Amino acid sequence: MSSDTLSITDNRTGKSYDVPVTDGTIRAIDLRKIKTSDDDFGLMTYDPAYLNTASCRSAITFIDGDKGILRYRGYPIEQLAEDASFLEVAYLLAEGELPNAAQLAKWIDDIRYHTYVHTNVIKFLEGFRYDAHPMGMLLGTVGAMSTFYPDAKHIDDPANRYIQRIRLMAKLPTLAAFAFRHSRGLPYEFPRNDLGYIANFVNMTFSIGGKHEPNPVLQRALEILLILHADHEQNCSTSAVRSVGSSHVDPFSAVSAGIAALYGPLHGGANEAVLQMLDQIPSRRDVPKFIESVKSGGGRLMGFGHRVYKSYDPRAKLIKRTADEVFAQTGLNPKLEIALELERIALEDDYFVSRRLYPNVDFYSGLIYQAMGYPTDYFTVLFAIGRLPGWLAQWEEMLGDKEQKIARPRQVFTGPDERPYLPLATRG
Ligand code: ACO
Repeated sequence: MSSDTLSITDNRTGKSYDVPVTDGTIRAIDLRKIKTSDDDFGLMTYDPAYLNTASCRSAITFIDGDKGILRYRGYPIEQLAEDASFLEVAYLLAEGELPNAAQLAKWIDDIRYHTYVHTNVIKFLEGFRYDAHPMGMLLGTVGAMSTFYPDAKHIDDPANRYIQRIRLMAKLPTLAAFAFRHSRGLPYEFPRNDLGYIANFVNMTFSIGGKHEPNPVLQRALEILLILHADHEQNCSTSAVRSVGSSHVDPFSAVSAGIAALYGPLHGGANEAVLQMLDQIPSRRDVPKFIESVKSGGGRLMGFGHRVYKSYDPRAKLIKRTADEVFAQTGLNPKLEIALELERIALEDDYFVSRRLYPNVDFYSGLIYQAMGYPTDYFTVLFAIGRLPGWLAQWEEMLGDKEQKIARPRQVFTGPDERPYLPLATRG
């Protein structure tokens, strides 16, 4: 017998079973043969929030949460953030290898060619109220894209999938910029295909009267932030894209599910929540009081803690450096002082140390976005632009994985046993 097995003795029956162990996992379905009787359904695993369940095999992103390691397709995040462009990283995530010059040029061209959205989208956006949250607008318009491209439902055709992925990469910044302009009551600025991916996006958000003075340092800082957010294996929004995509819906619908998941304050919405938290702390002197309120259950320290990283999030380290470069251009964000003090105290405090709570990617990113001129409720939109290549690569990988089926978790039923319907008049 191979040593890569797990022997299980069922103390209910005294029977023993051998279950294969592969890549440090057992297959939950192998437990089904563990039964107390022939009509027993068989043993299941119970794992709310997937704390210890691998839902797929993936070759895209590697994380070691204890050591603070993050790699896309084997390349350390530090090197990609230093040297790569965002579109290069998007290609790497999608194709598995860094592009050569010709491949990169084609990839950039393909994306550039699709940056425009149908002008009906503008009518659609006009239906949103002036104070609509930009993430709500983004998930609505991305979902609506499926009606503009009904061919996107042909997900079995790799060439078709490629064109839809390109469309999403090309159009998401346009939709995001339109949502930004809508919130401000500004006329929409159309894509400029003479500009690069980042420069075009920045121009679409900030150009006034057709003019915008680009700042290369801020644009590179934004690009680095997008690279740092580009994938993070099976997080909440990526799992949403995979799960919804597993029904074989079109990718616009699947990605809008990812955007919805990202919107939440425990996920991508945390960068917005960090700024709201910093707003509640009037000065550096008030930081200890705030920390005490967190420790006594008065709320979480937003931007701290992570399901996977139990040491310093490597992205947070890189973002801190980027923050210095940005603030050298824009002047110091007064909230930075408060954030630094929060970090200093939390990293020395036993409450946070014992729970292994460290700053995550969102702790400093909001401060940078704010310094760049983006309003708080827009931060998660920027995160969505960054995360899109990851969602698309994971969607593609999921569809190509012969082991994947429509996602359908099991449950442990805790409701009432069968009982007869009571007519209304007889209910107390
Ligand atoms: N502030 C204070 N206490 C915290 C925090 C925090 N930010 N995060 C976790 N804890 C505490 C919990 O209260 C719990 O304490 P207990 O054991 O005494 O009950 C313990 O640490 C473990 O927390 P869990 O909620 O079980 O950890 P989980 O892995 O489920 O949560 C999460 C991870 C959601 C990120 C959490 O740390 C959190 O809410 N952080 C703040 C929100 C945030 O920054 N989210 C962004 C994550 S990164 C991203 O999505 C891009």
